[in-house]
Amino acid sequence: MTLVLLVLWLHLLGVVVWVGGLMYQAHVLLPAARRGGAAPFAEVLRRGRPVTWTAIALVALTGFYNVTRLGPLERVLESGAALTLALKFALVLAAIAVSGQRDFAQVPRLARAVAAGDDPRPALSAIAWMDRVVLLLSVVSVYLGLAIARA
Ligand code: HEM
Repeated sequence: MTLVLLVLWLHLLGVVVWVGGLMYQAHVLLPAARRGGAAPFAEVLRRGRPVTWTAIALVALTGFYNVTRLGPLERVLESGAALTLALKFALVLAAIAVSGQRDFAQVPRLARAVAAGDDPRPALSAIAWMDRVVLLLSVVSVYLGLAIARA
């Protein structure tokens, strides 16, 4: 019981760090970067990567543990939790794929543009779109997680 609760706590802690950090970057830092602060923004995003990816790993690992605690397979299938879990898993995979593209392709692209004195706006726009997609997928995943836990 204590381990189950501890892992659930880590699951939600990981979600808070990942999604909360992204929310702050997308809605506070990115608008400032668009008004002429692209260089410090690129640096903040680079420094934020280890935190983000540690949180993502924590969420995924604890999520898999949560799956093992859902109870007998027949009940999981009958309650609809299995279908909800499959949907959530697909959305989370998509969110991780887009986050990878953002952090390991678009953030270096932004850093290169800043270093070369080029226009940073194309990279900033790509990052803004990807952030919106990941935030949307994440808020739906939170709902699906709550639905699974109560199915
Ligand atoms: C590989 C990825 C993931 C897997 C396999 C997974 C799996 C699960 C499972 C099985 C539960 C139910 C736990 C229980 O019944 O006590 C759960 C709960 C939850 N998950 Fe995830 N999850 C993953 C990622 C995420 C992500 C990315 C988010 C949010 C962005 C999220 C948010 C939640 C929330 C809010 C709960 C509800 C906790 C509760 O009310 O007890 N999960 N997760």
